[in-house]
Amino acid sequence: MQPLLSAKDLYVRYGAVEAVRGVSFELQQGEIVALLGANGAGKSSIMNAITGLVPTASGQVMFDGKDITGSAPESLAPAGLTLSPEGRRVFGTLSVADNLRMGAFALTDKDAISAAWDRVYDLFPILRERKDQYAGTLSGGQQQMLAVGRALMSNPRVLLLDEPSLGLAPLIVDQIFDLILKLRDQGVTLLVVEQNVAKTLQVADRAYVLVSGEVVEQGKPSQLSESGTMQDAYLGAN
Ligand SMILES: Nc1ncnc2c1ncn2[C@@H]1O[C@H](COP(=O)(O)OP(=O)(O)OP(=O)(O)O)[C@@H](O)[C@H]1O
Ligand SMILES: [Mg+2]
Repeated sequence: MQPLLSAKDLYVRYGAVEAVRGVSFELQQGEIVALLGANGAGKSSIMNAITGLVPTASGQVMFDGKDITGSAPESLAPAGLTLSPEGRRVFGTLSVADNLRMGAFALTDKDAISAAWDRVYDLFPILRERKDQYAGTLSGGQQQMLAVGRALMSNPRVLLLDEPSLGLAPLIVDQIFDLILKLRDQGVTLLVVEQNVAKTLQVADRAYVLVSGEVVEQGKPSQLSESGTMQDAYLGAN
């Protein structure tokens, strides 16, 4: 079956720094795929290159049968590919509702917009309660929900989540992982970057392990956790 999203021989460079070196991966429709690796391994660079936030030096990214290499971020959300970036990046001086509204820019159909509001508020009732509040006054966990909610407002077919549970309390972390499964059940295909390896391997169908910008191992969680590569990827120098 043709993958819904794939990268082939992807390179990302920042001046002399070669952050991503020939990475290839694919996501089938309906899968949860994890990108794992130590700090600086190149995970965010991959997510940002796919979504046009940083330039792709070489390689090819395909989405839904189309070459999207180097596409502008604002052209991808309407096509069905959205990133919830590392570090939340919510607009603190805008209300919760206005933050969400920005995520819906890709939708033009009134019914689709209304369905997106319902879906996000149903997933995160706290955002409905706080909709008129400044986003900057939300707790860290609530801001993370807002960041994911904003990404969902474009009704993506593929959602890229970069460190969705970073810095959150254990209870909220569990909610984030429950959410990942729930979204998959709703038909969303997910590429997830996470420091919480154990929990990620519980929900992921497959994972790719990165060391120094290269994929060193890939497979089902059961195959990965038995090998030493994972530990090397996290404990070793990247
Ligand atoms: N804008 C930039 N300019 C220069 N170097 C950068 C830039 N962004 C990232 N890098 C470098 O590229 C490499 C990969 O960084 P990246 O942020 O992709 O890693 P990561 O796997 O997401 O790490 P983390 O787990 O810390 O988020 C690192 O060596 C980093 O210092
Ligand atoms: Mg990162």
